[in-house]
Amino acid sequence: MDRVIVLISGRGSNLRSLITAAKNYKIVEVISNNTNAPGLQIADTAGIETTAFERNDAPSLIAHKKAIYQKVKEISPDLIVLAGFMQILEKDFVEQFVGKIVNIHPSLLPQFRGLDTHRRALDLYCQSNGTQSRHGCTVHYVHNEVDTGPIIAQSALKIQPGDTEVTLAQRVLSQEHQLFPWVVNEIADENICYTNAKVKIFDKTRRRGASQGFNVHG
Ligand code: GRF
Repeated sequence: MDRVIVLISGRGSNLRSLITAAKNYKIVEVISNNTNAPGLQIADTAGIETTAFERNDAPSLIAHKKAIYQKVKEISPDLIVLAGFMQILEKDFVEQFVGKIVNIHPSLLPQFRGLDTHRRALDLYCQSNGTQSRHGCTVHYVHNEVDTGPIIAQSALKIQPGDTEVTLAQRVLSQEHQLFPWVVNEIADENICYTNAKVKIFDKTRRRGASQGFNVHG
């Protein structure tokens, strides 16, 4: 059973789906960089240990980050799952855990790295008169630059006339809730792994993902 840490900053809806769908992994700790993150309550209710680091208790942002990294190192998990963790990771931390950190991003990477992905997808949809309508979410291994690293799997949808940022965000989020636990279970079952800075996936895993509507890379 893989020991997983989930890092959050806010609402925690992906955390909830990871808790509900855990088959091959156990979430041993939820860590937040925000003491007011509602996701902490979700973890508490599920009986999972939580640690939240108050930014104002740390003398600097880097000290705040280091406290979080220290906690992760003490737990020494098999996998670190970023589920809406809104703090840029430091290079040395990423290097130390490379291949053991996965992130979910609400766009079809490499399109729309960074913030406001739904607004940018809608802008492109409008500018292209509806021809550029693909959008969705991505789970990837984390490399040093923000929202980069080998893509593991994506779930796509089509923007519809009348979609707003709100409706699009809702539809993408419900895809995230399916995709993310699926990937984490497959990693924990060793059907997906990180080798030589690439994703390695068995064909049968790819087919299983495809049957659920996921585009599995690697
Ligand atoms: C999700 O849209 C995720 O893709 C992004 O941040 C959001 C987190 O939402 N990285 P939640 O906290 O899991 O509800």
